[in-house]
Amino acid sequence: MDASPAHTPERQAFYDELKPNHLAPLWEVLRGLITREPETPCVPVIWHYDAVRPHLMRAGSLITAKEAERRVLILENPALKGKASATHTLFAGMQLIMPGEVAPAHRHSQSALRFVIEGNGAYTAVDGERTYMSPGDFIITPSWTWHDHGNDSDQPMVWLDGLDIPLVGLLDAGFMEPGNAETQMVTKPAGDSLARYGSGLLPVDWRPATRTSPVFNYPYARTRDALEQMKQQQDWDRCHGLKLRYVNPATGDYAMPTMATFMQLLPKGFAGAPYRSTDGAVYVCVEGRGETRIGDKYLAWGPRDVFVVPSWASHTHRAESESVLFSFSDRVVQEKLGLWREARGNA
Ligand SMILES: [Fe+2]
Repeated sequence: MDASPAHTPERQAFYDELKPNHLAPLWEVLRGLITREPETPCVPVIWHYDAVRPHLMRAGSLITAKEAERRVLILENPALKGKASATHTLFAGMQLIMPGEVAPAHRHSQSALRFVIEGNGAYTAVDGERTYMSPGDFIITPSWTWHDHGNDSDQPMVWLDGLDIPLVGLLDAGFMEPGNAETQMVTKPAGDSLARYGSGLLPVDWRPATRTSPVFNYPYARTRDALEQMKQQQDWDRCHGLKLRYVNPATGDYAMPTMATFMQLLPKGFAGAPYRSTDGAVYVCVEGRGETRIGDKYLAWGPRDVFVVPSWASHTHRAESESVLFSFSDRVVQEKLGLWREARGNA
């Protein structure tokens, strides 16, 4: 667009007159509101797990999970200070539960995903069913479902929390309710949801009541096995390697209505072509080592590191060794609204 209209004393006097009337001239701000391309303030950033873990353990010695309600260190984008956001629409945080602790039951409009980073055998309970967590598992807490977390194992348990908090906040659509009891009653055996809905079968007369997948734990062992089988074909996407999306088996849509989730495998030596899309994403390295170049920034990642690729930022992945990356974004929302775009190569 052309340059902003010139400022004159007369115009400025007019603008000052408008202010008390809660009016403002659009032509003064239009160029910042409607841009030729997405212009996010969000920047590329990486959190190396080795650097985060000592702070997390220190939090573990300073406050209990019960007192904190959720003992989480926010992964805050440095360009979004004080906004508790990794991208404009997504919250990311590292949650710690020490042995014997409980994070009490509550429910809220915001959907949450858990991506397990460290530990084995702690549980998250959703609507009366406990699921036990292992590294690489992708676990869903659907909107407005009761959930609590507990650690009956003898080791600290850490997972990445991903929530749509900023998006729900933008829409002013958030409700929250604390539970009456610390832990909810267990009414179903562990593994019930996966058996019932996640085996390529569905109960014959069952119809989904919500937009979230009825499978709430996608175990890493199954995801990894799918990637391992598929890689035999050597059919690599030049930007993504081998990338799969988690789906809701009842609809074929993404597993969650507000956050799209993915797992991808990059073969050893992979040097990806440039790619960008309008959904800013949070990545977690599950296995391997490599780097993601975003503009003139190089983010070198290894297991358990978390990094952000902002909206419409051209980036390339490289893998030193065979690598597996989990990621989540608001792509599912953008697609529903007809806003999502991507560009491959240097276009
Ligand atoms: Fe919660």
